[in-house]
Amino acid sequence: MGFFGDIRVIYNMVFRPVRGNSHAQRMDSFYKNQAKDYDDFRRRLLKGRESLWQNMLTIEPYQNTIWMDMGGGTGSNLHFFGDAIDDISKVYVVDLAGSLLEVADNRIHDSGWKNVETAEADATTFVPQEGAVDNITFSYSLTMIPDWFAAIDHAWELLKPDGKIGIVDFYLSRKFPAKNHVKHNWLKRTFWPAWFAYDNVFPSHDHVPYLHKKFKPLLFEERQTKLPWFPFFKMPYYIFIGKK
Ligand SMILES: C[S@@+](CC[C@H](N)C(=O)[O-])C[C@H]1O[C@@H](n2cnc3c(N)ncnc32)[C@H](O)[C@@H]1O
Repeated sequence: MGFFGDIRVIYNMVFRPVRGNSHAQRMDSFYKNQAKDYDDFRRRLLKGRESLWQNMLTIEPYQNTIWMDMGGGTGSNLHFFGDAIDDISKVYVVDLAGSLLEVADNRIHDSGWKNVETAEADATTFVPQEGAVDNITFSYSLTMIPDWFAAIDHAWELLKPDGKIGIVDFYLSRKFPAKNHVKHNWLKRTFWPAWFAYDNVFPSHDHVPYLHKKFKPLLFEERQTKLPWFPFFKMPYYIFIGKK
């Protein structure tokens, strides 16, 4: 898509007001004019997703499991499964934004995946027909879910006893983070939440501690990434995999 696609995305992110009376309407209002350009821009913005998938797939066997990608958007993460996708019983891509799920549905159709389904639903309440699931992922969706604690609690309830949760997302440290965790300076902790809030993205200092409290950590990495078009700024993100 290149330069003009980037301009369309940046215009929608920076200038176009997000409208809607409900969270679902606001999500669709934000995404509907950038759904087609979404994947290319986010590939450069949302780092660590492939790494999360690789780790989720290698930590434990994935064959014959049920996997839910919460806030899965256009379903671009489905490509990170590689050939492994054929061995998974069922993959759900759950999202509130119908415009992004349309892209996901086309992708599923074009790829011929018969075991993948989209669900236009809320990650804090959606229950698949199977009831319990083995793996749940959130890639850059937790920061867009106002009741993120409800989303984590709901994921915990949906997971089978040995189930795994995998998250990759932006975050900021607490002023006094846990021992061995990275500490971000005042400027980062103050600037980034204000910047991202404009797009209804809420990087939090509480996601990481809450995930560590709720799940047994199997992997936790703290990283930073440059933003497209703003190469002088680095935004912190983390990868967390935990077991129920
Ligand atoms: C930044 S996008 C990330 C999309 C995708 N996971 C990816 O990595 O490209 C955040 C996604 O979360 C979805 N979302 C926000 N709140 C949600 C909720 N309560 N339930 C389901 N999806 C939600 C948005 O519609 C959007 O698709």
